[in-house]
Amino acid sequence: MMSCQAWPEPVVRVQALAESGLSSIPSRYIRPHSQRPTNTTTSCGGPRRKASQDDHHHRGDDHVNIPTINLEHLFSEDQVLREEVFRHVDQACREWGFFQVVNHGVSHELMKNARELWREFFNQPLEVKENYANSPTTYEGYGSRLGINKGATLDWSDYFFLHYMPPSLRNQEKWPAIPTSLRKVIGEYGEGVVKLGGRILNVMSKNLGLKEDFLLNAFGGESEVGGCLRVNFYPKCPQPDLTFGLSPHSDPGGMTILLPDDFVSGLQVRRGDHWITVKPIPNAFIINIGDQIQVLSNAVYKSVEHRVIVNSNQDRVSLAFFYNPRSDLLIEPAKELVTKDRPALYSPMTYDEYRLFIRLKGPCGKAQVESLTSQT
Ligand code: OGA
Ligand code: NI
Repeated sequence: MMSCQAWPEPVVRVQALAESGLSSIPSRYIRPHSQRPTNTTTSCGGPRRKASQDDHHHRGDDHVNIPTINLEHLFSEDQVLREEVFRHVDQACREWGFFQVVNHGVSHELMKNARELWREFFNQPLEVKENYANSPTTYEGYGSRLGINKGATLDWSDYFFLHYMPPSLRNQEKWPAIPTSLRKVIGEYGEGVVKLGGRILNVMSKNLGLKEDFLLNAFGGESEVGGCLRVNFYPKCPQPDLTFGLSPHSDPGGMTILLPDDFVSGLQVRRGDHWITVKPIPNAFIINIGDQIQVLSNAVYKSVEHRVIVNSNQDRVSLAFFYNPRSDLLIEPAKELVTKDRPALYSPMTYDEYRLFIRLKGPCGKAQVESLTSQT
């Protein structure tokens, strides 16, 4: 596949577009009829506030939410309590691919601070943000599209993408200089979520019947794993029924640790033929399995399609931390999970090679990982 130096079309910042006060959205954001969102009645009128019972009243799958897991006893001396946490994580990984965690060890104040500083970044004048404009070669910086297909339907969001791990790829010069405390807070936040991610990988490894450091080692080990932050900004949208904040996709990397907006929902997770709108719990992280863990676990754990809907009343900010394999390592099903009855479903590939797909084509549901299935 060819890589590309520049975006195929002039870049339009969605936030600026939304702030121009238009009442209908440009055609390049309008999805064909068959691909439009359902369940978009999440928006709530008036000032920013917590979602109330009412907001959830009219949606089909309102009573369902992804599982919530309390990690408090993960390192407990009490084996019974500890094993219960492991069991919950295993069940959530097998049955959902998505779960929220509370008592995860990351400071709530740090989480809030990080999100609010990023909100401040996006609320700066356009010229300031343009200093960080990204390109499709590395995606680092301020961006407004995924994929480089000319004429593709675009999503209703802007983002900022940066490398955090390995430290050799960490370049603070590419991170926003203002707000002045943002760089420091990104550093602290990154440290917190990397630690959490490592712990969860250990739990997943054991639950898969592997050595507890199996997944972390497969990712390159503590100091070599990849870690990227994508901060998503979803502006208000005058026609939320016609577009997505982020189109259906599975995350290409290992595991995602998402800090959603504290007030505005928008993330939907696929469950069979339904899309479940996640109701975020205050101070929780949302964890999901990415394609690389699907490959390593030989599909015992599967990545799950998800998407983001927008609304006409409130902006939404989320911080997605992608915990990934070091990009030049071959990722393939764990030998222990390959048997006569269950042959290897995927052939080896580096993450560098794997992620080219989404970088060129943009979000495509689960098409990529499914296309990898080796013929056996
Ligand atoms: C992502 C993602 C969900 C959200 O960035 O890959 O799925 O709620 N984000 O912003
Ligand atoms: Ni995602």
